[in-house]
Amino acid sequence: MQNKSTLAEIENRFDHDVRRFSNLETGQLTTLDSSFNMELMAQGIAKYYPQLSSVLDIGCGAGNYDVKLLQYTSPMHMTLSDLSMPMLLKAQERVEALNTAGTTKIVKGDFRDLSVGEETFDVIMATAVLHHLRDDADWETSFSNFYRWLKPGGSIWIFDLVKQATPSLQQLIYDDRYGRYLTSLKDEKYRDEVFAYIEKEDSPRPLMYQLDLLRHVGFKEVDILHKNLCFASYVAFK
Ligand SMILES: C[S@@+](CC[C@H](N)C(=O)[O-])C[C@H]1O[C@@H](n2cnc3c(N)ncnc32)[C@H](O)[C@@H]1O
Repeated sequence: MQNKSTLAEIENRFDHDVRRFSNLETGQLTTLDSSFNMELMAQGIAKYYPQLSSVLDIGCGAGNYDVKLLQYTSPMHMTLSDLSMPMLLKAQERVEALNTAGTTKIVKGDFRDLSVGEETFDVIMATAVLHHLRDDADWETSFSNFYRWLKPGGSIWIFDLVKQATPSLQQLIYDDRYGRYLTSLKDEKYRDEVFAYIEKEDSPRPLMYQLDLLRHVGFKEVDILHKNLCFASYVAFK
């Protein structure tokens, strides 16, 4: 894919954006229903796994989803992974404060290079990060790895920017409707800045592409939690 941000550029941008990803009340304002999705995912995980013991958060940022999860679950083994060290340190500080009787491990690097044993985790969370995957092989290898890293009965929980498969609907939902939302946050200049960095940095895929691929790599049950315009949360069980 041409002209997209490199990993080093993505790391550098997030190194300087820790504060924006540390607000538990609002979550990330440029994403729709951010705090609602955080609650829904945390409650969903806690409900499905009364005895949750191990979680991996890929692209954890400053740990918002982990902090939210710990409001609904007991302490556990948590592995937090991110490209950005400042993000990881912030996430570690926030998670350790709550996960006092559990363990908290941080791993710096590209999640595609993570060295994780088979059947290690009950739950993997990947929020606002998979849109950095680029080609088909990248997506398929990543989803296959998630499947391998999960215990039987384990699950991957995703929240992300998604694309419509139909170009005219993409224009309506993304350019028009999401554009209007961004303008309402500030002004048209801000909307154009957000659109420009998404164009440079992200390569989102349609929701249906991802749900089909999750089934293709072996997940038994795949379910949608929520979708509002170009943002969706979904889950797949091994
Ligand atoms: C938009 S933030 C989302 C943070 C957090 N998951 C949340 O929802 O609040 C994306 C995070 O993913 C990280 N990231 C991006 N590409 C990554 C990769 N290939 N491997 C690991 N982390 C990555 C960035 O450094 C950043 O902290």
